[in-house]
Amino acid sequence: MKHPDGPQTPRWLQKIQWTLDPLGYMDAATQRYGDIFNASVVGNYPVLLLVSNPEALKQIFSGDTQAITAPSNRVLQPVMGDYSVFVLEGSRHRRERKLLMPPFHGDHMRAYGRLICDLTEKAMGQITPGQRFAARTLMQTISLEVILKVVFGLYEGDRAQQLKQGIVAFANTFKSPFVSGLLFFPSLQKDLGPRSPWGYFLRLQQQVNQLLYAEIRERRSAIADPSSRQFDQSTRSDILSLLLSARDEAGGAMTDRELRDELMTLLIAGHETTATAIAWALYWIHQLPEVQKNLLEELDTLGDAPEPMSIFRLPYLTAVCNEALRIYPVAVVTVPREVREPMELMGYALEPGTRLYGCIYLTHHREDIYPDPKQFKPERFLDRQFSPYEFFPFGGGVRRCIGEALALYEMKLVVATMLTHFRLALADSKPERPQRRGVTLAPADGVKMVMQGLR
Ligand code: HEM
Repeated sequence: MKHPDGPQTPRWLQKIQWTLDPLGYMDAATQRYGDIFNASVVGNYPVLLLVSNPEALKQIFSGDTQAITAPSNRVLQPVMGDYSVFVLEGSRHRRERKLLMPPFHGDHMRAYGRLICDLTEKAMGQITPGQRFAARTLMQTISLEVILKVVFGLYEGDRAQQLKQGIVAFANTFKSPFVSGLLFFPSLQKDLGPRSPWGYFLRLQQQVNQLLYAEIRERRSAIADPSSRQFDQSTRSDILSLLLSARDEAGGAMTDRELRDELMTLLIAGHETTATAIAWALYWIHQLPEVQKNLLEELDTLGDAPEPMSIFRLPYLTAVCNEALRIYPVAVVTVPREVREPMELMGYALEPGTRLYGCIYLTHHREDIYPDPKQFKPERFLDRQFSPYEFFPFGGGVRRCIGEALALYEMKLVVATMLTHFRLALADSKPERPQRRGVTLAPADGVKMVMQGLR
């Protein structure tokens, strides 16, 4: 049995296409090679398959044990660190997920409902009628505030301000396709001084690290001395407190380095993606008057000051958010999986060492599952249910996104709050284009909007 075929252009050229035009690269490859193809876009693996066949995806996500494992994510390692949940494998990965997941469970998320609505009203309230603003930037401010609260609990003061600025500056380095591209070319990750792209990136990372280490030190000493002023019982359910009190089988606590890597992971993964998803939803809602009308009608049924959970359950709002995540998924592929034992997939014999990526974008654009896939049609989510191998913006199996509940909750509450209280319009008539931003895909112009006034 032979391997799946794939684009024949040189590896370096495929990597450049993957960096600069990932959608164009995938659309062209699937047209020629179908729903499983060999793509030399990450690292130097002899066989790296992008898969957009639901049956095969089911096999990949359910087989995350013996034959297929979830290896380290080498692309994210320089950003998140060696001890990030994205980079850990096997039993250490399982242990870390067990630790991190409970605070992100749906029930816990409810506690953040009011906060999300209030932050949105506050941020929007600062924009005057007629003023233009970039929706993605505004969403980034909101989603960063939310994740800081989840991770650190009550968190105010100078260091909190510096950390917010530092994280936004650090995340924004990926606006440059060049810096994003460096993630796929590890040999070019060289510190050639503060003005070089990688040097600049490392210095910003260093600044954030220092703030995170200072926070970790302060929290450790506060726990050691409960009488200190900084010790506040109410902050103990936050994730940092949880990580600080975690012990491994041998009774050992997490080191500062391990804590830093996990904090960086949650802060970056937890705000960048969500901000992009909300910006896309706002774009489609204001681009398509019919969608906006339907949504406003549904939101108006809830009356004044609705409960966050009633907003969360609205069917049309849910369909709009799902459709936004379908048409331009924030992550176009899952993180990698690796074949460890010889196996068969879609009639191909796969050797150990083969890399597999679930291709979220191509699956979401299959004509047989989503007729007119390039059209934004929320109704498709009202008309039928899609399996987790047909619609999977948050991935699947053992690496399925741990922030899914928070992200969806936040998306719906922010969109609902904005539409209910404010009249907004797109500032530009030209369509938004998706563009690479690190390992994600974001609106190239950030969705420029204009405030028209109160509603
Ligand atoms: C719309 C927003 C988001 C999208 C589209 C998204 C998407 C994804 C995807 C596709 C994966 C890889 C899953 C796989 O390979 O099977 C992932 C993993 C992950 N996500 Fe998210 N995510 C979002 C929000 C969040 C938030 C709010 C957090 C908060 C902490 C978060 C934390 C993580 C973490 C820690 C992982 C790694 C899990 C592991 O390796 O075990 N994400 N996400």
